[in-house]
Amino acid sequence: MPKPFYITTPIYYVNARPHLGHAYTTIIADVAARFNSMRNTDVFFLTGTDEHGDKIVRSAKKENLTPRNYVNKISALFKNLWPELNIKYNAFIRTTDPSHMAVVEQILQKIYDSGDIYYSEYEGKYCFGCERFYADRELKNGRCPDHETEPEIIKESNYFFKMSKYQDWLISHINDNPGFIRPRRYKNEVLAFLRDPLEDLCISRPKSRLKWGITLPFDPDYVTYVWFDALINYVSALGYPDGDLYKKFWPNAQHIVAKDILKPHGIYWPIILKAAGIEIYKHLNVHGYWNIQESKMSKSLGNVVEPLDLKKVYGLEPFRYFLIRDMTFGLDSSFSEDALVHRINSDLANDIGNLFSRILSMAHKYFKGIVPEVDPHVEQELERGLEKYALSTINVFEAEMKRFAFHKAIVAVWKFIGQMNKYIDVTAPWVLAKKKSSKKQLESAIYNLLECLRIISGLIYPIMPDTAKKMQKHLGLDPEKPFYMLEQLRSWKSLQPGTKLLKSIAMFPRIEINKDTLEKMEERSSSKLTADIKPEIKIEDFTKIDFRVATVLRAEAVPRAKKLLKIEVDLGEKRTIVSGISTDYAPEDLVGKQIIVVANLKPAKIMGVLSNGMLLAAVDGEKCTVATLDRKVKPGTQLS
Ligand code: MSP
Repeated sequence: MPKPFYITTPIYYVNARPHLGHAYTTIIADVAARFNSMRNTDVFFLTGTDEHGDKIVRSAKKENLTPRNYVNKISALFKNLWPELNIKYNAFIRTTDPSHMAVVEQILQKIYDSGDIYYSEYEGKYCFGCERFYADRELKNGRCPDHETEPEIIKESNYFFKMSKYQDWLISHINDNPGFIRPRRYKNEVLAFLRDPLEDLCISRPKSRLKWGITLPFDPDYVTYVWFDALINYVSALGYPDGDLYKKFWPNAQHIVAKDILKPHGIYWPIILKAAGIEIYKHLNVHGYWNIQESKMSKSLGNVVEPLDLKKVYGLEPFRYFLIRDMTFGLDSSFSEDALVHRINSDLANDIGNLFSRILSMAHKYFKGIVPEVDPHVEQELERGLEKYALSTINVFEAEMKRFAFHKAIVAVWKFIGQMNKYIDVTAPWVLAKKKSSKKQLESAIYNLLECLRIISGLIYPIMPDTAKKMQKHLGLDPEKPFYMLEQLRSWKSLQPGTKLLKSIAMFPRIEINKDTLEKMEERSSSKLTADIKPEIKIEDFTKIDFRVATVLRAEAVPRAKKLLKIEVDLGEKRTIVSGISTDYAPEDLVGKQIIVVANLKPAKIMGVLSNGMLLAAVDGEKCTVATLDRKVKPGTQLS
């Protein structure tokens, strides 16, 4: 029996509502957990929320809530979202849980007693957004690479963790354990980072600066630094050090994170474990970002996609399928509803959906919906080939899923679907049905196709569990028995002749792209661009925006769009801008007007038209008024 499987997601900060990026990681963990249950493995799946630190205190203040009430509110948003996405976690940890806090204290004390934590004065460049100090070489043009703000110089006495002591050990551990950090590009990234001397990690904050944290057991004037608190959730949730869950699952721990938190997980965490005398986790699985028009989806950029919106429009399982199929695990992927619709129509409605209804219809037409008996003597090379293909698909699927190459596992299943279609073309059941003498061949063809559907229904289970169950029901399989165990899927010809099948259905209706659906997509994408959360910015941030006066030369409606106008302007040079103002302005109303344009906005394609800038307008409820100047100036004049 395979070893127990322990899988974790990052614990998400509660300073923002969950979005598609968080949903992706958590769905991936759910897929990995469900896949492992297909292998007859005991599975434990952990997720949760990260609730301490000054970022959280600031967010609570903005909402006029105490930190405690604020974290309760946002943590519940995450906790309640996961069941909506059919994510079946075993435990949801919060860093404000007293049991977690006790384990953090215990581990801190242990490391302190062994001499790996020391007290010292420190002066450094601190980014409040990231809640950490930055070394000069980590900054981009002197600014935080994530927040693009200049860090502030801070001097204070703090506790430090001797990471440097473990640098050589970590390098050897990574080299000696292939797949410890995967895919390989991230292993290489960590090793590249470890080529420079590792700095010790500041693990505390004085209470004068931050109270919302776990008090250091050896100094009541300090709380722990956010990472030391957060990472320990992975063992505290299992009842470290004596809990049964800990003993059973920790030796096979696997984490999933995106590349933003590679360093804490690939460097700090193994070193904390080593220093605390805890076994090191087995694998760190790192994925890329979901981007929107090349920028990472994030609350601060105001371009987040709400998972529940997509579930409502496209259905949960197509949405889950799309996320897993469209992202190559490890690389970035660009999200668009166009791509989602394309996947649903081609892979789901066309490929698997058509195949399923086609085979069931034939079984009803030729055998009154009863699984036929097969005479083994009529089976030929072709049937043996199909069986071989099915078994090798299961093997490839298992190997790819094990190494987190989910998209490749799906590709293997869809190749098998292609092979089944070929088998239908070659056997041509409709021709066999015409002659009495070929009845046995017809029985064999339909039986084999139904048997392949049984296998497909099991293989899609981790990604689309409800669709898999629906298929199982239609194939007359016992709903009480798990139908997706790999061992069972491998047992060829286990579908019982005589089983009654249900009537064929369209499992995935096609999504018609018409004016109405396009308008709705347009509304969703333009609401993404108007973020309601506007963070405080510094003058340097403001001066980054290149506001210019532009004269409108021409304007016309964007074909198929309800609100969009394509506007040609002169701002010292000619530009095209797409703007959602056609419900308030006819094209001719704009010509000749002098408007204000953000000239250095990254160009973006909106409904197929490249927009090179953005005009400013006041949006009051539904009504939109374009900002103009009260005196004529030269086109291209800068605003300041
Ligand atoms: N609290 C820390 C993690 C502590 S774990 C011990 C944290 N929280 S977070 O809310 O910022 O979550 C980051 C994680 O959310 C990423 O690592 C990833 O799993 C997920 N994602 C957030 N935005 C994402 C994308 N745009 N694309 C893909 N995943 C994204 O960091």
